[in-house]
Amino acid sequence: MTVEIAPLSPDMGAEIRGVDLSRPLDPAVASALRAAWLDRVVLVFRGQTLDDDALRRSADWLGEPADISMPVDRRGDDDTLIALISNIRDETGNPIGALGDGDMWFHHDNSFTEAPDKATWLYAVELPESGGNTLFGNCYRAYEALPERLRRSLAGRKVLQVYDYTIKERPDIADLHGIPHFWQPAVIVHPVTRKKALYVDRLMTAAVEGYDRTAGEALIEEVCAYVERVDYEHVWRTCDYVIWDNRCSVHARTDFPADERRLLKRGKVAGEPLLADVPSPREAH
Ligand SMILES: [Fe+2]
Repeated sequence: MTVEIAPLSPDMGAEIRGVDLSRPLDPAVASALRAAWLDRVVLVFRGQTLDDDALRRSADWLGEPADISMPVDRRGDDDTLIALISNIRDETGNPIGALGDGDMWFHHDNSFTEAPDKATWLYAVELPESGGNTLFGNCYRAYEALPERLRRSLAGRKVLQVYDYTIKERPDIADLHGIPHFWQPAVIVHPVTRKKALYVDRLMTAAVEGYDRTAGEALIEEVCAYVERVDYEHVWRTCDYVIWDNRCSVHARTDFPADERRLLKRGKVAGEPLLADVPSPREAH
């Protein structure tokens, strides 16, 4: 069967047709998928029938699976590679998964770790009637769109990426004891495409190196207006499998009815420490 790569929007996303992810991929197909993924950032495979064994191998064409970073007490089970993203509760009232309810602000996965995951995949098992869509923003485009003034403000600087699993907003950085955090470049250079991408988002970026708290938050707020572009909105169908490049994109979730069940399975591909953009003399501060 021939592989079709159909763009989903001008700036991001492609639907892949003619690939069954439950079977070993021909090397030429794997190579075509890698190229499409680097180019389109988000790939969508509809109608995939994937059990957990198949899911654990489903992103082998991109690299090694990453262990789940989320603490076991914030998840519903102890699988190390597949996380359940769900609002469903078992018969005793305990959540079967994590990150279950409502909307979720734009973010990069695992930005608060030294080596954030290279890719994230989601597989749809059970969905509400409407809502719970995943929004994607292209962070190459966000950087390109940034006015010169803001580029200069961020050039060569680091940003503090923080994630408090217990809340859904940007955390208070006054006390980061026990809360995962890491200083990352504000602008990264993608290790393969060598293009610059903005590495700032509303959920996890909490401070900018060299700025006091108020000025840093104001700068983050201004930059987020460029990050939250919604280049592609994925409206889920069951058996959809979506995989994205986590270094050069952000994603968010739209709200959905709290009384409807939603279950997606999620896995990651291990990444490396991020490369900082080296500002040109003109941009240096
Ligand atoms: Fe996420």
